Amino acid sequence: MNSLVHGFRVMLYALYSLVDKNHDSCVNLNGRKLLYQRKIAEGGFGTVFLVRDLSAPHGAPGNIPLYALKRVQASEVESRHTFESEVKAHGAVTHPHVMRLVASAVIPGASGPQGFLLMPYYSNGNLQDFIDLRTQRHQPLSLDFLLSLFRTMCQGVLAFHLLDPPCVVRDIKPANFLIADHGRGTVLTDLGGVVPAARVVHTRAQADALQDDAAIHVTAAFRPPELFSVPSQCALDTRTDVWSLGACLYFMVFGKMAFDGTESAALAAIDYQGRNDAGTDLIKSMLQIDMRKRPTLPAVLEALAPYQ
Ligand SMILES: Nc1ncnc2c1ncn2[C@@H]1O[C@H](COP(=O)(O)OP(=O)(O)OP(=O)(O)O)[C@@H](O)[C@H]1O
Ligand SMILES: [Mg+2]
Repeated sequence: MNSLVHGFRVMLYALYSLVDKNHDSCVNLNGRKLLYQRKIAEGGFGTVFLVRDLSAPHGAPGNIPLYALKRVQASEVESRHTFESEVKAHGAVTHPHVMRLVASAVIPGASGPQGFLLMPYYSNGNLQDFIDLRTQRHQPLSLDFLLSLFRTMCQGVLAFHLLDPPCVVRDIKPANFLIADHGRGTVLTDLGGVVPAARVVHTRAQADALQDDAAIHVTAAFRPPELFSVPSQCALDTRTDVWSLGACLYFMVFGKMAFDGTESAALAAIDYQGRNDAGTDLIKSMLQIDMRKRPTLPAVLEALAPYQ
């Protein structure tokens, strides 16, 4: 009886996917037969779907494993490069607070090649939605809890800063952290922007190229001042990420964005609403306009050590 119900369910999923004309009902990825269930999100670079792995041994009927499948365009040189960087970044780090890549491939599609990334599915969604919901419901979270969550975010990003050579994540924002460990930790995802951290600029042309690249890969509301206007002579390091993390912590503590995504906002005085505690102290240190005055992530994590 159970297997009948299970078979019926699978058929229903397949029928539903056929009606939804945005994609085929199944995709074959490195020998896995993945059945589309629904769209989870449409991001700037791709679309993320919930899928079931029909080829996985699933024991009891109804236990077909769920995954998240990210689909990105890979038809142009640039989009192909971003996809390949994302796959490479996953491969460079194995860490409990960084998204694990289960499989990846480029598959020909009607509108050209498409890149696919298969990942574990996190059913509790992302940090942006989590904080927004608590804010709407007027259910603020304790500072201790927020700092313990923030600690796991910093640990995930630090895994990239500790690579040889050190890398920066760049696209750091609350929507790129998924809620894990029953709400007690986070997993960093969306790694297409990872690049080596040391970026030395000697000419205006180099500065302009870096600025244009940052405009694509670093979300404006979390972009540090030195990436809005890159000086013709400068040396950037991992502390560009520290600014973005500081802007994330502001959002977590205050339930609203620190910056509106303009350069003038990033340079203006920040409204701390008269608060003065361990959270605002940390945010202030991380949102120093002069990059050289910001702490590195190991120093941030030292301050966060009591919040386990
Ligand atoms: N493994 C996953 N489990 C559950 N939800 C996920 C997973 N991966 C991504 N998502 C959801 O999909 C959203 C978009 O994913 P992702 O950031 O990787 O795509 P993107 O197209 O690069 O997005 P953007 O450019 O807008 O940042 C995430 O914010 C999250 O809500
Ligand atoms: Mg994203």
